[in-house]
Amino acid sequence: MIFDFDVPVTRYDTGSNKWSRYSRDVLPLWVADMDFQVAPVITEALRKRLEHQVFGYAAAQESLRQQIVNTMQERYNWRIIPADIVMLPGVEPGFNMALKAFLKPGDSVAVQTPVYRPILSAPSFWQLQRRDIWLNPDEDGSWPLEDITWKEQLKHSQALLLCNPHNPTGKVYSRAELEKIAHICDQHDTLIISDEIHCDLVYDKQKHVPIASLSPEISQRCITLMAASKSYNIAGLKTAFAIITDPEKRAQFENSRLGMVDSVNIFGLIATEAAYRSGDEWLSALKTYLQGNRDFLVERIRKELPEVTLHTPQSTFLAWLDCSQLNLETVPADHFLNVAKVALSNGNEFHETATKNFVRLNFGCTRSVLSQALDRMIDSVRALS
Ligand SMILES: Cc1ncc(COP(=O)(O)O)c(C=O)c1O
Repeated sequence: MIFDFDVPVTRYDTGSNKWSRYSRDVLPLWVADMDFQVAPVITEALRKRLEHQVFGYAAAQESLRQQIVNTMQERYNWRIIPADIVMLPGVEPGFNMALKAFLKPGDSVAVQTPVYRPILSAPSFWQLQRRDIWLNPDEDGSWPLEDITWKEQLKHSQALLLCNPHNPTGKVYSRAELEKIAHICDQHDTLIISDEIHCDLVYDKQKHVPIASLSPEISQRCITLMAASKSYNIAGLKTAFAIITDPEKRAQFENSRLGMVDSVNIFGLIATEAAYRSGDEWLSALKTYLQGNRDFLVERIRKELPEVTLHTPQSTFLAWLDCSQLNLETVPADHFLNVAKVALSNGNEFHETATKNFVRLNFGCTRSVLSQALDRMIDSVRALS
């Protein structure tokens, strides 16, 4: 089957956060969802469920649990059982539930900086101290294995809130990196809360490795959070899941719902099952398209906007652009919004002070929109000189 990701889909007046925040002269390349229609197998499954016309509270059926088990085995050679899965309305509630469940006020949690804002801010919600582990800025966001300070940070942390693949750098952590990280966590009895929401969008024949899949022993200290939401563009259906193989930890995690984290959206459950069961072909075509967008973006920036530096993202539809050499009078995100009319995510969302001269660009859009956005960004910089 041919999937055409070049087909423009207008998202105005559809309740889209991405396309309603700014005025219509702005191209929105900010929040992390894509402008593509979902796989036909998802639409079909949703339509069938819609026709039933009764939409009471939902529960994850055994067929969905078994499908997730199969998907983990097929994609990551990771053997889990249906009982390990806890359905959630999102990954963000998931890592907050984990922090609430396993840490007490005053404890520390290590995070990789720069990082997705809800990860950055989660520790403060639970009166936890955040310990930053700075990723290698000159490389592609790899773990600073040679620098001993990360070990110190982990030594003093009760939990590591890992983001792999990483938002915003797109870095995919290798098995060797993960083994070293897991080893240190093991030494210091550090819990690993692993946000792996971007796990299915990895490029260049890279392979995602769930940190919990390294060994049954490591798995016992892991709360893994995943969803079909990013890869299949169903984030608005609010469905994700945790995989927790230690039954005691799972019970403790469940207890931290505290009447605030409710059951899951019925359409999200249907869409997730359809995506994992029959969406492989679509996902593979999407990855080819996104990889093309990524290469187009990197090439144009390097050629036409050389003052801006970026590493080729190994994963996600997000690119992390260092704009410090532009020496702009305002933060780059404001410049691109006000002058180029392109909305990007502001670097200071990913660290409070150190990354204000960065922007994150979402290339999960048609090549045509990406090209127009780049034209505008390049013109806006040329007009400065
Ligand atoms: C790394 C990461 N974790 C979590 C989320 C949000 O997940 P959810 O919508 O399932 O809460 C995002 C969304 O951009 C993300 O990039």
